[in-house]
Amino acid sequence: MMRWIMMALVACFGVTFTVKAGDSSEIFKALSCDKCHSIEAAGIAFNPGEPDEDDDEEEKEPVDLSKIGASVDAAHIIKFLDREVKSHENEKKHKKKFKGTDEEKQMLADWLASLK
Ligand code: HEC
Repeated sequence: MMRWIMMALVACFGVTFTVKAGDSSEIFKALSCDKCHSIEAAGIAFNPGEPDEDDDEEEKEPVDLSKIGASVDAAHIIKFLDREVKSHENEKKHKKKFKGTDEEKQMLADWLASLK
C-alpha cells in the first residue's frame, strides 16, 4: 500500500514539473518569441516564418536564450519585456511589445531566468 502512495506521489510531482516547463515553452512559441530567438537548451529552434512588415530585413540572426538566466534575473526580463529597461548586452530596448498576459510574462521570465 505504502509503495503505491509513494509511486503516485512521484508520478504527480513528475507530471507537475513537466507540465510547467512545457507550458512556458508553449507560451514562448505561441507568442512567436521563436521568430527571433532559439533556446537550444530547451530544444526550441529558430523559426523565423514570414517576416512581419515591421521587422528589420537585415536582422535575421537568432538570439539564443539558452543561458540567459546566467546573465539576468526574472525581474530584469519582466522590465525588458515591458520595454522599461535595455538589454544587458547592448543599448537596445526589446524590439517587440509584449502581447501576452501578465501571468504569461511572469511564467516566461521565471522560466528564462532558470536557464543557466
Ligand atoms: C522581432 C524579433 C524579436 C522577437 C519577436 C522577440 N525578441 Fe527577444 N530579443 C530580440 C533581440 C534582437 C534581442 C537582443 C537585444 C537587442 O539587441 O535588442 C532580444 C533579447 C531578449 C532577451 C534578453 C534580454 C537581455 O537583457 O539580454 C530576452 C529575455 C528576450 N529577448 C525574450 C523574448 C521573449 C520572451 C519574446 C516573446 C514574447 C521575445 N524575446 C521576442 C528580438 C526579438
